[in-house]
Amino acid sequence: VNTVGRVRFRNRLAVPPLAPSRTDGRGRRVFELRAGAGRTRILPGAATPTWGFGQSVLGPTLRAARGETVLVNVRNTLRETTTVHWHGMHLPAAMDGGPHQPIAPGGTWSPSWTVDQPAATLWYHPHPHGATARHVYRGLAGLFLVDEPDGPGGGLPSRYGVDDVPVIVQDRTFGDGNRLVEDQPLVGGIGLLGDTILVNGTYAPFFDATTRRVRLRILNGSNARTYRFALSDGRPFALVGTDGGLLAAPHETDHVRLSPAERAEIVVTLRPGERVVLRSAAPELGAGTWTNRFTGGDDAFDVLELRAADRLGASPDLPGELAAAPALARPGASGRVDREFALAGFSINGRTMDMSRIDFGSPRGATEIWEVYNQEGKPHNFHVHASSFQVLSVDGAAPPPELRGWKDTVYVAPKSRVRIAVRFDVAPDPATPFMYHCHLLYHEDQGMMGQFVVTGPGQ
Ligand code: C2O
Ligand code: CU
Repeated sequence: VNTVGRVRFRNRLAVPPLAPSRTDGRGRRVFELRAGAGRTRILPGAATPTWGFGQSVLGPTLRAARGETVLVNVRNTLRETTTVHWHGMHLPAAMDGGPHQPIAPGGTWSPSWTVDQPAATLWYHPHPHGATARHVYRGLAGLFLVDEPDGPGGGLPSRYGVDDVPVIVQDRTFGDGNRLVEDQPLVGGIGLLGDTILVNGTYAPFFDATTRRVRLRILNGSNARTYRFALSDGRPFALVGTDGGLLAAPHETDHVRLSPAERAEIVVTLRPGERVVLRSAAPELGAGTWTNRFTGGDDAFDVLELRAADRLGASPDLPGELAAAPALARPGASGRVDREFALAGFSINGRTMDMSRIDFGSPRGATEIWEVYNQEGKPHNFHVHASSFQVLSVDGAAPPPELRGWKDTVYVAPKSRVRIAVRFDVAPDPATPFMYHCHLLYHEDQGMMGQFVVTGPGQ
């Protein structure tokens, strides 16, 4: 680490295929996913042993509209138990795909739920107890796009793979025979920081843009690394969406920081014939952070080259307004706090993950104010299952524009406090827990996670 990685872009960006689906007799949209092992040619030379969903690495993009009921048959052809968690989806606990819904080798798990949330870029990944980092690192991850056919965001580029492009960013380290190195020393207790950036599993990728505007749906799918994305010439772009939905209006900015599991939808405007590079600069992880050398906070990388065609197709103007802003509570750091979460020492409030312990119940439909405090010098983030939340304040100040839309994961810098408002509208199930945790996967696997349930009246 601690290097500036500049690469010559030489491979066409792989775009994950859209998952085929069929409609069953009950009107449900049915997908098939198969977790399995394979080999993928990533670097020149030998193919790399990887895991994927129905392909050798990563998985197809699932896509469904708000109001549709989906059924996913997830088959596990690996030799070990895994799970598939629908990150960012608002669904009943038994469908969530956390550690309580294991899929044994040879087994199939068939969750079904009705999609009911704003249009957003969600994703799916394994969540087996204590082994999430390894399963994701080997390649198990994919996108799940929620559409709202008559909803906001109509004027945004939306031709999948043409001007609406998934950008799954992951860092990996390759060793002998191009094998993934999984046992790097965990200096600084952050987790694995790879020295090679892949996008959608492609090394040194370029994308051929054929339109004046391109929407990039960026997912930080890395285990531990935080990025600060910007364009090589510093030009501004429009941030239009975050984890759980579109922003109230496009926000013009020249950078966006994403910690593991966070998403940003951005729209880049191109000139004919030019090349512009999506880069990641040193991500400013927070004052006094452990030391940037151990956290990847000094690292800068080239990520993806956009190659604009000499003649670019027209793109619609960006809409002035997008979606309704979250309004669960008034932004700011005054008022009551219902729950506090102190992050330190691979634990939350001094406790590590125990699958048999439920830390609290949150009544369905009740807005709660939570405060997350990072007590130490390491960077962490905070992810909550089953809902999206509104960021109310960061260190007492109103959230910056990029944190004013729906979120399900938020960066919590060393020694900082983030206050959020959250409400669970899913079916109550006092017996089946959801999780909240740090999404730096090594931390999560070490136990920096707790469990809650959504309760109904009288529970
Ligand atoms: Cu992305 Cu608990 O997970
Ligand atoms: Cu952490």
